[in-house]
Amino acid sequence: TPKGSELIEAIKRLKQEKNAVILAHYYVDGELQELADYVGDSLGLSQAAEKTDADLIVFCGVHFMGETAKILNPTKKVVVPDFNAGCSLADSVPTAEFKLLKAQHPKAVVVSYINCSAEIKALTDIICTSSNAVQIVEAIPKDKEIIFAPDANLGRYVAHKTGRDLILWEGACVVHIDISLEKLQKLRTEHPDALLIAHPECKEMILKEADYVGSTTALLKFVEESDRKTFIVATEAGILHKMKLAVPDKLLIPAPANEQNSCACSECPYMKMNTLEKLYNALYYELPEIEISEEIRIPAYKALKAMLEISK
Ligand code: 13P
Ligand code: SF4
Repeated sequence: TPKGSELIEAIKRLKQEKNAVILAHYYVDGELQELADYVGDSLGLSQAAEKTDADLIVFCGVHFMGETAKILNPTKKVVVPDFNAGCSLADSVPTAEFKLLKAQHPKAVVVSYINCSAEIKALTDIICTSSNAVQIVEAIPKDKEIIFAPDANLGRYVAHKTGRDLILWEGACVVHIDISLEKLQKLRTEHPDALLIAHPECKEMILKEADYVGSTTALLKFVEESDRKTFIVATEAGILHKMKLAVPDKLLIPAPANEQNSCACSECPYMKMNTLEKLYNALYYELPEIEISEEIRIPAYKALKAMLEISK
């Protein structure tokens, strides 16, 4: 494997030779975001994966994102830098237990957050992301029961926004639930002019304190459009890469985690499993490849399509 700047050049060369597209989530390291053809939130990345005409999709993100790309664009080869980059939300839903919950509420419409496995998507009526969850739930007739899985914090936020009663799956994002309210409050006293902006995967007590709640793309747009100069950003710190490029003159303070860590911020260990070297290997060997049986893919596709139709 080449090293340093040679590695970056080799990735660019391989990408061209293989007619590959690199998709990256805002939470992966900045150097990977810089090599990507498209960087976005879960909704934007799904739309990009669906419409690409590249032969090879390399997804720098986590496993469920690679799966989503394959479900939406099955004739393309989809590879990921690290097959073990998972997600605590996706991991919180065993298929058998989810089937049991559905059996207890046979008439309920099943809404699943995109952070779930292909198997769970196949058991879902309509997928949502953090940027359209409120809109998706509002599109469901008022007399219908709704199961909302797997993020209970997002679910409670959506229930509050829509006034709907949701049957929640108690999953959580390990990164967002570890943001420290106490440290946030201290930061706010140190920066009284700062606006607190938060991702809806955060705990309710943080969302209550927040001046603005939104998906990663929505948070980025908010700092660009706001007149304010200082922001405390309560989401994974990777988003600061694009934010700093977009608003170089503003002060952006990443929200601190409870756990003491090297960056004194919130980092997703799964997203950080993506490295330049693994990206190079994924492009070179076209491995590890995401494969999904048609039995799972077809119903999962339906649930994703139902969302994309509403979120055009
Ligand atoms: P969005 O980028 O859709 O806001 O999702 C956040 C997230 O946690 C992805 O894993
Ligand atoms: Fe999953 Fe949270 Fe990491 Fe996103 S930030 S991939 S929701 S664990």
